[in-house]
Amino acid sequence: MRLLQLERNLSLLFIFLLTVFTSADEHQIDKRQAGTTTESTTGEITHPPGAICDDGYTYWNYYCYKGNSSEVLPIEGEAQCQAEGGHEVSIHSQEENDFVLTLFGSNPPPLATIGFLNNGENSGWWDESPWGDYNSTGLNDTANIGYCMAIAYDSQTVEIGQWVSVACTEDYLPFVCKKLAYGTPTAATTTVSQVIFLYFRSMHKLRTAEHRSEQSRMDEL
Ligand SMILES: *[C@@H]1O[C@H](CO)[C@@H](O)[C@H](O)[C@H]1NC(C)=O
Ligand SMILES: *[C@@H]1O[C@H](CO)[C@@H](O)[C@H](O)[C@H]1NC(C)=O
Ligand SMILES: *[C@@H]1O[C@H](CO)[C@@H](O)[C@H](O)[C@H]1NC(C)=O
Repeated sequence: MRLLQLERNLSLLFIFLLTVFTSADEHQIDKRQAGTTTESTTGEITHPPGAICDDGYTYWNYYCYKGNSSEVLPIEGEAQCQAEGGHEVSIHSQEENDFVLTLFGSNPPPLATIGFLNNGENSGWWDESPWGDYNSTGLNDTANIGYCMAIAYDSQTVEIGQWVSVACTEDYLPFVCKKLAYGTPTAATTTVSQVIFLYFRSMHKLRTAEHRSEQSRMDEL
């Protein structure tokens, strides 16, 4: 019974991921074919001609960024960013870190999930960009807190702009998405990190399934 439930959850997971990736692809194609020509952006770095962002995203240095205030699990934030054709944000310089700090305007949340996953030797960014070129870690406690990371918008636990460990499947937080601007020469990001994503996603589903069967056992009593 337990196994059947598990299989069902895993199948649902695959269907979910398939939908997410398919719709992200379609979205990209639609946008390209639409040939949008106007976009107001506030990027501080020179805007190459033709580089544009979807509504709600802000251009910065060949990429588009968006802070989403919905409080969701870090892995759900990553799923949402993927559905929009990107990933949770990777950060590669002090300038980019500072830029990410501007994304929620004048009333930012205390923390927002970024796209870093601490899983030992495979630690890295969801978008598979290089890790180690820039590091703003303030608190890295995988053992007691969790494997995901957030950036601090206030100085409650760490300094503003520092990164802090959060729990991938327990903490509900706003998040930041990043994706390549349309019409930029940079190569698109790869999807190898899906393997890790799948792993976390199934862990979460498993936990939910366990919780549900515990719940029904309690209901039976
Ligand atoms: C923010 O994320 C939530 C949760 O995934 C989603 O439902 C919502 O559409 C997103 N909002 C924006 C403005 O992108
Ligand atoms: C956090 O610690 C782990 C384990 O030591 C390490 O692999 C990872 O690179 C660290 N992450 C950051 C963001 O410093
Ligand atoms: C990042 O910085 C933290 C804190 O200074 C350090 O513990 C960690 O080893 C660094 N990670 C890497 C990969 O440089």
